[in-house]
Amino acid sequence: MRDETGDLIGPALLDWYDDHARALPWRVSPADRAAGVRPDPYRVWLSEIMLQQTTVAAVKDYFTRFTLLWPDVGALAGAEDAVVMGEWAGLGYYARARNLLKCARAVVSDHGGRFPEEHDALLALPGIGPYTAAAISAIAFDRSEVVMDGNVERVMARLFDIHAPLPRSKPVLKERAAWLTPDARPGDHAQAVMDLGATICTPRGPACGICPLRDPCLARANGTAPDLPKKAPKKAKPVRRGYLYIGQRADGAILVETRPEKGLLGGMLGFPGSDWSDTPEAAPPAQAEWQELGGEVRHTFTHFHLILTVFQAKLGRDEVPNRGYFIERHAFRRSDLPTVMRKAFDLWRGA
Ligand code: ADE
Repeated sequence: MRDETGDLIGPALLDWYDDHARALPWRVSPADRAAGVRPDPYRVWLSEIMLQQTTVAAVKDYFTRFTLLWPDVGALAGAEDAVVMGEWAGLGYYARARNLLKCARAVVSDHGGRFPEEHDALLALPGIGPYTAAAISAIAFDRSEVVMDGNVERVMARLFDIHAPLPRSKPVLKERAAWLTPDARPGDHAQAVMDLGATICTPRGPACGICPLRDPCLARANGTAPDLPKKAPKKAKPVRRGYLYIGQRADGAILVETRPEKGLLGGMLGFPGSDWSDTPEAAPPAQAEWQELGGEVRHTFTHFHLILTVFQAKLGRDEVPNRGYFIERHAFRRSDLPTVMRKAFDLWRGA
């Protein structure tokens, strides 16, 4: 269904995008697009996976580095898992990196190295959910898909002054977004709504005065824009605790482990430690005089706050740990660690 308002809003958005699209490393500008340049589906896919739960600012450098190291899906599919996990370290939500590799390999083995164009074929690939399938299909292949993310939800809630709280309001917001999705330039349309949400229709202090949709926007007319979208109250996050052990041999080698594939930080490099719970159990990875470092590591994950007590010890030259393995000091890269482990490393180094 398309209504008259939709017929006005869509073109106004595209006009605005033609002049104001953000220059992003994975994006083909509207001018280049008009001249016939097509987006590279690999770059669109990679950017969309990186952008899940993560800001454009945080993603840019990672995207540039990944595409330098692995310029196409075949190169990425052939990369070593540990190298990819190391390059992803710091971006968070590490299941994305494991699925990234699985997806690259599936595209090579099942699709001849070319990303499929259709939503459902994309959805069948590892790590690609409904949002990402729609975004890739629209942006890379210009198919008319409804692309819903947090920015789009906010823009729709305001444009139509919808006060039902998220997440209950999602179906209504999606219906409105579907009204506005054009048959022409759906990829640019999707990116235009995202850019509008990121630069003008921002969560706090929306810049309604310069918005291309200020006339049709119902929340602007009613003065409710800054209060939308309403959100159901979030549950308070519980606090979990744990112990972490940083052991070093006299030759400088550091005891690390590759975390199990399943679970938080799966497949990432880290220091051995206890479980993370209300009542963690001590779990030193080697017999040694473990000393507690002053200060604690605090880190917030999606569903809980974590407080880690960190211990250090000097380990013997012939130490055989009960877990993990040694990395020579010169081969150890802080940047291979996920953020919570970097915090522990920094505490240890500063001690
Ligand atoms: N956020 C997620 N995907 C995006 C894209 N393609 N452009 C801008 N912001 C985004």
